[in-house]
Amino acid sequence: MASGTTDRKIDKLIYLLVKNATVIVPGPKIASEIGVTRSTVWMYIEKLRALGVEIKGHTASGYQLQKLPDILAPSLIRPELGENQIGHRIVHYFRTDSTNNVALELAAQGAEHGTVVVAEEQTAGRGRLGRDWYSEKSSGIYASIILRPPLAPAAASVLTLLAGVAVHQAVRSTTGLPVDIRWPNDLLINGKKVCVILTEMSAELDRLHAVVLGIGLNVNHREMPANLKQIATSLRMEGRKIYSRAQILAALLKELEKKYRLLLDAGSAAIAQAWAAASSYAEGKRIRVLSGSDEFAATTAGLEPNGALRIRREDGREESLVSGEITEVK
Ligand code: BTN
Repeated sequence: MASGTTDRKIDKLIYLLVKNATVIVPGPKIASEIGVTRSTVWMYIEKLRALGVEIKGHTASGYQLQKLPDILAPSLIRPELGENQIGHRIVHYFRTDSTNNVALELAAQGAEHGTVVVAEEQTAGRGRLGRDWYSEKSSGIYASIILRPPLAPAAASVLTLLAGVAVHQAVRSTTGLPVDIRWPNDLLINGKKVCVILTEMSAELDRLHAVVLGIGLNVNHREMPANLKQIATSLRMEGRKIYSRAQILAALLKELEKKYRLLLDAGSAAIAQAWAAASSYAEGKRIRVLSGSDEFAATTAGLEPNGALRIRREDGREESLVSGEITEVK
């Protein structure tokens, strides 16, 4: 896992450079403001350059940003969030194994509701069913959000739908791209996965301690590795332009807050309704269902208030899916 202290100091350095973007900031000034030696400042600058941040200058002359960096630094995201509880604390890593691992650890140590862990790169990003999640450096948003909702463990699955709706809205408003949600938690553009959500929790039988919403969104990937080309895409590949990850993350955290408040005020039925309005999979979609070792064809028939998917089998029998995977039948 990356050192949190180093990452906090680099965050201060980014903030200093952004605040003074029009001038050259002398090395000794940076060193004293962030509390490290001049040679450490140089090392941090090199680290930022390696991430694609354009910085002019050297130790003798001082440093100046050439353009605003697209780094998910807390000091750049937090000012966008106003009164949001979600994101009031952002823990940023340049590299970590999995933001969900870090968030689960922080939650066990008592981290507050709304704490966000975000990384430029994950070395062991995790997906559902033991799969791994491809996390290319500085290209995606890899974020885990700690929530402490007043819900029973059995009711927590609605939070995955809530996250899907929030990502849907944030991507729509920042890019205008035609994003769809496939039950329960895949976001698709033109039929390919652009975002997935891994919800994990720590709970006793009847008491929820914390939920971690792990969100992986492909933003500026130029292309997908050969083994994912057929099934995955990025916002850049679909929109044919580079997007600001910082702007999308800020929009996402604001949407999460709105939908979380909706859940507390109006209950899970309101989230199910918002999900159904955002997804072409809610009603009348012909699908194949993979549920354990069982596989069959069906048509979707609406979402239950608790987030279960109603389906009609080909023999007319209706039932509700609480877990499993579905794919569209064309
Ligand atoms: C899936 O494959 O169904 C879910 C993948 C979820 C990936 C995200 S990336 C941020 C967070 N950290 C992880 O290790 N996984 C989630």
